Amino acid sequence: MLAVAVLAAGKGTRMKSDLPKVLQPLAGATLVERVLASCSGLQPNRQLLIVGHQAERVEQSLTGTATGTGGDSPYEFVLQQPQNGTGHAVQQLLEPLADFDGELLVLNGDVPLLREQTIAALLEQHRSSGAAVTLLTARLADPTGYGRVVADANGAVSAIVEHRDCDAEQRRINLINAGIYCFNWRQLAAVLPQLSTDNDQGELYLTDTVAMLRPAMHLEVADADEINGINDRLQLAQCESVIQERLRQHWMREGVTFVDPASCTLSDGTRFGRDVVVEPQCHFRGEAQIGHGCRIGPGSLIENARIGDRVEIVYSVVREAVVASDCAIGPFAQLRPGAELAQGCRVGNFVEIKKSRIGASSKVNHLSYIGDAELGENVNVGAGTITANYDGVNKHRTVIGAGSKTGANSVLVAPIQLGANVTVGAGSTLTKDVPAGALALGRAKQLIKENWQAPQG
Ligand code: UD1
Ligand code: CA
Repeated sequence: MLAVAVLAAGKGTRMKSDLPKVLQPLAGATLVERVLASCSGLQPNRQLLIVGHQAERVEQSLTGTATGTGGDSPYEFVLQQPQNGTGHAVQQLLEPLADFDGELLVLNGDVPLLREQTIAALLEQHRSSGAAVTLLTARLADPTGYGRVVADANGAVSAIVEHRDCDAEQRRINLINAGIYCFNWRQLAAVLPQLSTDNDQGELYLTDTVAMLRPAMHLEVADADEINGINDRLQLAQCESVIQERLRQHWMREGVTFVDPASCTLSDGTRFGRDVVVEPQCHFRGEAQIGHGCRIGPGSLIENARIGDRVEIVYSVVREAVVASDCAIGPFAQLRPGAELAQGCRVGNFVEIKKSRIGASSKVNHLSYIGDAELGENVNVGAGTITANYDGVNKHRTVIGAGSKTGANSVLVAPIQLGANVTVGAGSTLTKDVPAGALALGRAKQLIKENWQAPQG
């Protein structure tokens, strides 16, 4: 049996934030989500979250996203109130795990870069060695702030000393405690009540149990980046750059060209086809799916969007939109939620499209707002065309049939339907439906007064 406990009750004073530390985002996922994801592949029998500071908020953030159903969350939330240290946090498990027998994997909620295979290796070593506790360690050039691990050459650990409790000699130890432990739960449960607050912070330290358990072993990680703990915004930024580098390297190996990798950011949910070229300064957030042979950027933001093959997007923002293959977008276009472009569309500069379906091969090339509209195929929307979709209270739909053309500066006052192959004269304001094949003009007749004399002052 395997139980996982994530320590997520601390305030994170050093973050200087209203947000509890474990809810800080890193490449689009919170710290605690990342920690949970790093061990989900081990299929633990129990998943316990120790919450305290803003407990409700932490709980809500996880039950809202964990299963999507709220009610049957796979997590057990255990309240630690007040927060009297990591040892005190784990003491809160004595009751919920009273009948539990097996391994307890303890993960610090602020160590978000662990790889699943690293945790699996820790568990594996723990099980095969029969140790009472096995902890993850790393050798750091600068171990400042971390607990130092006192270990012999065979990997047997005799104690962990917190940075602030170290003497000058102990400070020189560069083997540090990552905050990730695999305990034999029964043995841990027996020593937990013996913890004392006899340390610089006057807290109960989980790390003190290590000196009470025999044998205590450690596993040193090969890649020290994995055990980065986040206590302040500087460490948050460092972890962000580690994640971003991992994501970019992954996609470069999968066949994506980044012209200036360091200037681009991705999320876990970003997906690319082959032969995509990402120009400088592009940002992908949420679930962004990019097809084969696309050229994205420079300077674009794509969030929760599905982009087909061979699409070009230059200096544009695409959010919660769907773009079929062979479209060209930008420069300076905005596709807002619910924009759907069929194959081969062209959306040009200073065009905003919201909640609208644009038929195949249609063009909205310059200076337009298209909202709550349905355009057929091969529609040509003239420069400056606006769908006036909002009457101040309600939104209304505009329908434009296949093959229609709107002249420059047309205003289509919704609700309105234009049939197929309609031509709208430039500068028209239309308020009534137009039948297929018609020419619609809705503007004042031009007046010419020849030889007109301006009034004399
Ligand atoms: C801890 C370890 C240290 C290790 C480091 C690795 C202890 C005493 N020290 O130090 O050896 O090198 O992590 O990153 O464990 N928390 C609670 N309840 C509490 C206090 C903390 O749930 O009462 C949670 C925090 O939310 C956090 C985690 O435990 O997720 C670690 O707490 P933190 O105060 O950051 O410990 P460190 O000083 O970093
Ligand atoms: Ca920490």
